[in-house]
Amino acid sequence: MATYTHGHHESVLRSHRWRTAENSAAYLLPSLKSGDTVLDVGCGPGTITADLATLVTPGRVTALEITDEALGLARTEIERRGLTTVSFAVGDIHALDFPDDAFDVVHAHQVLQHVGDPVAALREMGRVTRPGGIVAARDSDYAAFTWFPRLPELDEWLDLYERVARGNGGEPDAGRRLLSWAHAAGFSEVTASSSTWCFANPEDRAWWGGMWADRVQQSDMARQALASGMATRSDLERISDAWLRWAADDDGWLSILHGELICRP
Ligand SMILES: C[S@@+](CC[C@H](N)C(=O)[O-])C[C@H]1O[C@@H](n2cnc3c(N)ncnc32)[C@H](O)[C@@H]1O
Repeated sequence: MATYTHGHHESVLRSHRWRTAENSAAYLLPSLKSGDTVLDVGCGPGTITADLATLVTPGRVTALEITDEALGLARTEIERRGLTTVSFAVGDIHALDFPDDAFDVVHAHQVLQHVGDPVAALREMGRVTRPGGIVAARDSDYAAFTWFPRLPELDEWLDLYERVARGNGGEPDAGRRLLSWAHAAGFSEVTASSSTWCFANPEDRAWWGGMWADRVQQSDMARQALASGMATRSDLERISDAWLRWAADDDGWLSILHGELICRP
């Protein structure tokens, strides 16, 4: 099994908790209906899950995570929002503990890039989706991250992240591969699309740059980079400093390309 590269350090959660259905699942929203049952695989801290639950209510949503500890983050968010239509399950995307055809919609946001066998994962998502339902996935594509100014340390960051993620069994350039994975999983009715996030004003830059300045020094990725010898503490400090300089630059701009999939089993 692949190791989840980011872990759940506060600096990682700062990024994931910013996510909403609107900024991270807009491609799916026109297909959702009140009353739909939804499985959100790899739900993380559950902000998208909570939005999906609100959108399909009274339909039930199941939030699934690989460990009970990670699932606890989503539980907290769902309780905070007072939602009563969400159930929780611990499980692995490669072997979901649900019967065939159990859900109308099975969704995974930024999960397939982290798993050992994304084709088997998509096939399994399809198995638990009813015929005519929807398998939806969205993943970023790290090699397609684009930024200005072109600080050399940020190229180092990308190279380091990709090496750590691949060392963990993941595929960080997942966005461009989603369609090929859906075909390999046997889906014939597939709509592929793309969308971006863009951080280009002082608040967004401070948030994104500050978050990566911390992540590159404190998250699981940092620990793995140090333990594997892929980076030294001073490399990580240099990269962290570059993220802060990028964030402080009035000309700083960054865009993140994502691949998206809607498959109908
Ligand atoms: C980048 S986070 C995305 C979280 C959430 N979907 C979001 O976008 O905010 C990926 C999540 O997938 C979970 N994950 C990793 N491998 C998994 C697996 N094999 N089965 C289920 N979940 C997994 C991780 O624990 C992590 O919380």
